[in-house]
Amino acid sequence: MKRAIISDIHGNLEALSAVLADIESEEVSEIFCLGDIIGYGPNPCQCLDMAIEFDEAVLGNHDQGALFDPEGFSSGAEKAIFWTRDQLESSSGDRETSLKRWDFLCELPRTVRENGFMYVHGSPRNPLNEYVFPEDIHNPRKVEKIFCIIEQYCFQGHTHVPGVLTEDCFFRRPDEIGDVCQLGDRKAMINVGSVGQPRDGDPRSCYVIQEDQTVRFRRVEYPFEETAKKIYAIAELDNFLGDRLRDGR
Ligand SMILES: [Fe+2]
Repeated sequence: MKRAIISDIHGNLEALSAVLADIESEEVSEIFCLGDIIGYGPNPCQCLDMAIEFDEAVLGNHDQGALFDPEGFSSGAEKAIFWTRDQLESSSGDRETSLKRWDFLCELPRTVRENGFMYVHGSPRNPLNEYVFPEDIHNPRKVEKIFCIIEQYCFQGHTHVPGVLTEDCFFRRPDEIGDVCQLGDRKAMINVGSVGQPRDGDPRSCYVIQEDQTVRFRRVEYPFEETAKKIYAIAELDNFLGDRLRDGR
């Protein structure tokens, strides 16, 4: 089974289109999405319509923010969520399409478990909101508590920083492991990075291909200037949301 696992699209249509083209060239049999399909970016409706076709998806904190009252977001993120909700509510007259999008969001699970593999947005103990950062290797108690809940392997997103955290408290960036991770006996959390708003200093979209015990990190170029231009033209989306795409921060 060859599977693409993507996360944190954040309404970035240019990035998602480029990643889906790359996935097509990899001839995968399934696409999993780890949440935050919307929020921040200028094309939430189009990205949702594409995500509805994925084989599996889990709920992200920005997806939930659009569904309910957003809590704990920065003011820029909150403004973007309200704008995103407006887009979903006003989607130009086609009630059926609009309902389909809301139904899809409402039905997203928080966690998916399958043969020792676990898929969440944030972390196993707080699937929507907990961040597991590379720096958490300096907090072994946190790492230990989280790994207690993981049967063997967990795929997550949320931080927008790709890499592999193992239960012995090591974090390896993709470039430190030649973009390939062989899953072994040790429990591991694999952060698949972000399609629509990478934050590891590389503006290219990031996702992974999982084939049995092998996980490959992929980086994909996309025209981020186009996305930034759209963001600058929307008053409710802070200009910073466009600026950060350029630097991958
Ligand atoms: Fe996110």
